[in-house]
Amino acid sequence: MTPDLVKHTQNNEDIAIADRAEQTVEQAAAQDHGPRHVAIIMDGNGRWATQRGRPRLFGHHAGAKRVREIVESCPDVGVKYLTIFAFSTENWKRTQVEVAGLMSLFRRYITKEARALDGFGARVRFIGDRVRLDAKLIKLMDDLEDMTAHNTSINLTIALNYGGRDEVARATKRLAEEVAAGRLSPEDVDEETLPKYLDTYVLPDPDLVIRTSGEARISNFLLWQSAYAEYEFIETLWPDFSKEEFAKLCASYGGRERRFGAVKT
Ligand code: IPE
Ligand code: IPE
Ligand code: MG
Repeated sequence: MTPDLVKHTQNNEDIAIADRAEQTVEQAAAQDHGPRHVAIIMDGNGRWATQRGRPRLFGHHAGAKRVREIVESCPDVGVKYLTIFAFSTENWKRTQVEVAGLMSLFRRYITKEARALDGFGARVRFIGDRVRLDAKLIKLMDDLEDMTAHNTSINLTIALNYGGRDEVARATKRLAEEVAAGRLSPEDVDEETLPKYLDTYVLPDPDLVIRTSGEARISNFLLWQSAYAEYEFIETLWPDFSKEEFAKLCASYGGRERRFGAVKT
């Protein structure tokens, strides 16, 4: 068994949480409320900096500063789960200077924000493949997850070296290992089984996905999980995104009718 899978299968408490987090299609369809899980593609940091004649990393720093306000506004708008896209599996293609700057920003962000996040009652989790991340950063991530594990006010999930295709491929690999070891039969692999092997296995699916900066694509974010999410593509660049705009998007979600493929009677 891979170390990942040991962690995965032994964490019964998390699996119980996942069961409780599951929302039936009927419950979701009967919504007259705001989104419970919002996922955000925080895009536009580079353009924000360029518009000001500054280096791209200046924009990333400004972007990181926006996160706290949005996290802290979640309880006011009824959001229990917030998942933010910080670095994709494709972002390694950027210059070495930008990638190194981002990695150092993540280390700094975790070190600086840990206390505030914990004080606020945020339970922090990371999704994505840790293999390519440096040991110092992984240790900070692990420590923050452990430190906040008992918190309940908001579930903050940070996607770092995350790609939806990569996640599905890693999940499939673990599934195949279980089958090869005789612990799982191929007949038991279905839509309920596969997501248990995804990084997000303790989270409900996102109800609303927001992308800032005017791009109308999902760039490999939560591919499986967002099959029935509502989407908002907004023009604001991430460093300008405010809790007021977040609240407005959450409020307009409440008025949408999600049908999940059925015909409304
Ligand atoms: C999003 O902002 C942050 C990351 C992808 C790390 P960008 O850096 O993609 O900003 P733009 O799209 O170039 O403006
Ligand atoms: C998506 O933004 C990734 C993150 C926000 C972390 P990108 O800027 O990397 O996406 P593309 O390249 O425009 O599709
Ligand atoms: Mg971008």
